[in-house]
Amino acid sequence: MAKVLSIVNAKGGVAKTTSTQSIGFALKEMGKKVLLVDLDAQANLTTSVGISPKEDLNISDALLDNCKITDVIKWVNGVDIAYSGHSLISRENAVAHSVAGAAKLRSILKKVKEKYDFVIIDCPPSLGIYTVNALIASDKVYIPMVAEPFAWNGLDKMLETIDIIVEEELNPKLELGGLFFTNHSKNAQTILGKTIVQEAQQQLGDKVMKTSIRTNVALHECLVMNQDVFSYAPDSNGAKDYKELTEEIINS
Ligand SMILES: Nc1ncnc2c1ncn2[C@@H]1O[C@H](COP(=O)(O)OP(=O)(O)O)[C@@H](O)[C@H]1O
Ligand SMILES: [Mg+2]
Repeated sequence: MAKVLSIVNAKGGVAKTTSTQSIGFALKEMGKKVLLVDLDAQANLTTSVGISPKEDLNISDALLDNCKITDVIKWVNGVDIAYSGHSLISRENAVAHSVAGAAKLRSILKKVKEKYDFVIIDCPPSLGIYTVNALIASDKVYIPMVAEPFAWNGLDKMLETIDIIVEEELNPKLELGGLFFTNHSKNAQTILGKTIVQEAQQQLGDKVMKTSIRTNVALHECLVMNQDVFSYAPDSNGAKDYKELTEEIINS
């Protein structure tokens, strides 16, 4: 049965999509069967694997029972992806007010989970209905963070949301897998960067992961080249760092 991991941060631009894609393809390189789920209306993950966000159907149709989840899954370069589309944004209320509401993703994933070793969910930059659906469907949540001003904004709220989901038994087995720093070389040596890393370690202890992802242009370029970093630039720091991070995730 697949392990379900969510990549969550209410801030945009912290490498949620880059991390979902790179961890997913690192797992594929290790021989694992992977399903990526794009829950962001911006559909960056969907676009990055070469699928148009203008497809007739997308993951929101599966959440609203307009279709089966298998109707919105495509195989791309060795991984499956349940793709997103722009209609996710206008359907937030409909999903929230549907009978299964925040538990719907967990319910539809159950139908395909046994086919995979890992399901990885890319979340939108908010704590709205799609992110809550992801958290209820997940075994573990991973938080990418950039060590820059205001990095902590929203983090307390996010940790509180995880606690509520566990305590209210919406998903009692949900665990914080870890927090990792991304796009890191730029800020790692600044006083502010070091302070933010220290603050994270003080608050979260060993939940701060050992691997940080360095700033690496290959990670930026591969997203627009419709390739993963392991095929685009296998010897890059981006490929090395995400492989190491993925090993840490598997072994934790
Ligand atoms: N380690 C990195 N080095 C260089 N660029 C990065 C790195 N991680 C992410 N990026 C770039 O930063 C931008 C934001 O990343 P993205 O994954 O889209 O963030 P999010 O999904 O959290 O909004 C993208 O342009 C991406 O290519
Ligand atoms: Mg994104």
